[in-house]
Amino acid sequence: MKKALIIGGSNGIGLAVSLDLIKRGYHAVIVDRCAPDSSNLPDGAYEYHYCDLLELDEDLMRSLADDKEIQVMMITAGFGRVADFEYLHIAEIKNMMTVNATSIIEILNIFYGRIKGTDSFYCGVMGSIAGLMSSPMFTVYAASKAAICRFVESVNIELEVSGTSNRILNVAPASFKRSE
Ligand SMILES: NC(=O)c1ccc[n+]([C@@H]2O[C@H](COP(=O)([O-])OP(=O)(O)OC[C@H]3O[C@@H](n4cnc5c(N)ncnc54)[C@H](OP(=O)(O)O)[C@@H]3O)[C@@H](O)[C@H]2O)c1
Repeated sequence: MKKALIIGGSNGIGLAVSLDLIKRGYHAVIVDRCAPDSSNLPDGAYEYHYCDLLELDEDLMRSLADDKEIQVMMITAGFGRVADFEYLHIAEIKNMMTVNATSIIEILNIFYGRIKGTDSFYCGVMGSIAGLMSSPMFTVYAASKAAICRFVESVNIELEVSGTSNRILNVAPASFKRSE
């Protein structure tokens, strides 16, 4: 069975990506902090695993990285809030950097053997246009997305040097309507 892992796949763009991959014949392995609404996905076409990126479940991620049937990984989990920097709480700053940047980089580290391997492994992360340009009222969100952008650019050079044809895709959209 060919499988696709979607981290943040229960809602929004992650759910849309899950549906698209199911249509392409993949079994969707959805990791999120809430299960998807079962009415949104075809029965038997997906499985769900709980993980809150505030406290990354390393054992779960390592077991998924060992699953050779997983050929695709798309990380879409993330959040932001429009507010001037002075109104952000310390906890909110920590959480945003952890969910949008640190945990994602940790996941990519756990999967790095697959990404650097000779077999094709399709891997993408939802960044944001906010990670590419100055974004007032989105300061820490922009910082977290910029971290992903620079990280992906840098590690892709290491991948090129290593000789693998696999790369990580940083998707950096502007605003889109949520699918809910
Ligand atoms: N929407 C836009 O205009 C836009 C533009 C550029 C980039 N992006 C990026 O695109 C990605 C998807 O955005 P979206 O609009 O589709 O958002 P969304 O509908 O809120 O979906 C994000 C998913 O990530 C999950 N998530 C949030 N915090 C998590 C955590 N701590 N642990 C595990 N899962 C967590 C959410 O769970 P809950 O529903 O339980 O919170 C949700 O299922 C995000 O990274 C966002 O920054 C969005």
